[in-house]
Amino acid sequence: MSKISEQFYVNEYAVVDKNVEIGEGTKIWHFSHIQSGARIGKNCVFGQNVNVGNNVIIGNNCKVQNNVSIYEGVTLEDYVFCGPSMVFTNILDPRCKYPQVGSDFYIKTLVKEGASLGANCTIVCGNVIGFSAIVGASATVTRDVPDFALVIGTPAKIVGWVSEAGRKLNFDDEGYAYCEKSNKKYKFENKRVIEC
Ligand SMILES: CC(C)(COP(=O)(O)OP(=O)(O)OC[C@H]1O[C@@H](n2cnc3c(N)ncnc32)[C@H](O)[C@@H]1OP(=O)(O)O)[C@@H](O)C(=O)NCCC(=O)NCCS
Repeated sequence: MSKISEQFYVNEYAVVDKNVEIGEGTKIWHFSHIQSGARIGKNCVFGQNVNVGNNVIIGNNCKVQNNVSIYEGVTLEDYVFCGPSMVFTNILDPRCKYPQVGSDFYIKTLVKEGASLGANCTIVCGNVIGFSAIVGASATVTRDVPDFALVIGTPAKIVGWVSEAGRKLNFDDEGYAYCEKSNKKYKFENKRVIEC
């Protein structure tokens, strides 16, 4: 039997610990585990074999594909996409012999609204993924990613800029770009992109 509350859906093969908040319309699929203290917003989808760690905060309308662990210390704002098998981390220097267990040890990672993290990428902890940024498939993020940046590779480098809708931005001589899909105009200045 699947657990279908009036507000959210949990597949019968998923585990949701006590003391968890789950928003209306959220779906949690097979073999996923939501740990105690997690706070999840509305209309999120967690695919197969997803782990949401203790006290993790996740906004509204996020999509987490199969085989992703969102460890304690990670925060996802609204509309964050986590591609299949992408990897978060929360300790920089792990050692079995000198364990660092508990929230005091975990190094925080923030994924800002609208960002997409490609399949199989790795986010080294302590970094901020900017608003509407895209991390390419298999990239390794070792530094903050600016808003609207497109990064690829290991270590991840900026190779372009994208609109809120994910379209590549081509700036004119005055530094402006328009995205038809998002119907928004963007300006490139001081090595950063802002929405006009
Ligand atoms: C990064 C990305 C957005 C780039 O898309 P794009 O601009 O259409 O890329 P292009 O096909 O024009 O490739 C441009 C160049 O970058 C390379 N490239 C593309 N994606 C790459 C990646 N993730 N890592 C390394 N190099 C990449 C291409 O090989 C190409 O190199 P070349 O110029 O030497 O031939 C896309 O490739 C990607 O990784 N998207 C994420 C997909 C994903 O994980 N989806 C998850 C849901 S299923």
